[in-house]
Amino acid sequence: MTEINSCIAPMTATHIEQILKISEASKINVWSAKDYAEELLRSDTYAIIYQNQINKNVYGFLLARLIKTKNTTSESKFNIKANDFNSTLKSAFNEAEVLNIAVLPESQNRGIGQEIFNSFLRFCRKNKIENVWLEVRESNLSAQKFYGKNGFEVVYKRNNYYTDPVENALVMQMQMRFI
Ligand SMILES: CC(C)(COP(=O)(O)OP(=O)(O)OC[C@H]1O[C@@H](n2cnc3c(N)ncnc32)[C@H](O)[C@@H]1OP(=O)(O)O)[C@@H](O)C(=O)NCCC(=O)NCCS
Repeated sequence: MTEINSCIAPMTATHIEQILKISEASKINVWSAKDYAEELLRSDTYAIIYQNQINKNVYGFLLARLIKTKNTTSESKFNIKANDFNSTLKSAFNEAEVLNIAVLPESQNRGIGQEIFNSFLRFCRKNKIENVWLEVRESNLSAQKFYGKNGFEVVYKRNNYYTDPVENALVMQMQMRFI
């Protein structure tokens, strides 16, 4: 059961304080407020939150980087700075990397992560993103299960990739199907 009166919304700088609390509580690699602020200014950032529209509480978020690995002739008319996450990219980007996804620990296992991920994957399909990448700690079995359930496969391992504590990263990939 997801939260009542809540839905997906674009992430803006006003949400950073709540994002930091979620990152810290869910023990993902902690970015600083400056890191998030800089990320939100980039034109290749995709960032969404799951938020209660009445009290404005944020329960979870996803931050991804859009990547262009092919030469495309059409220019992006998509203003990601305005974070109009339902718009179309006009095929400027063809890959994406999930940088961070987290849900408040007390709100996990209620379908919020899945709702956030569904929204991101809908965006990817709509914009013909062909490959989605992410890295996950080798010990983070619940996240690996979550990604596996969503169609990701481990493609290789980066030894000692993470610090504090030092740990291997599994690089996971999903090739999108457009049918
Ligand atoms: C990974 C993460 C984002 C998933 O978010 P979540 O909100 O817990 O995910 P969901 O609730 O959508 O799905 C998780 C489980 O809840 C179950 N679930 C989904 N909808 C549900 C619902 N309506 N009611 C009850 N359970 C539900 C799912 O079946 C799933 O169970 P299973 O995979 O064990 O069978 C979250 O666990 C998290 O923040 N982890 C810590 C941060 C982290 O590790 N991030 C990834 C770094 S790489």
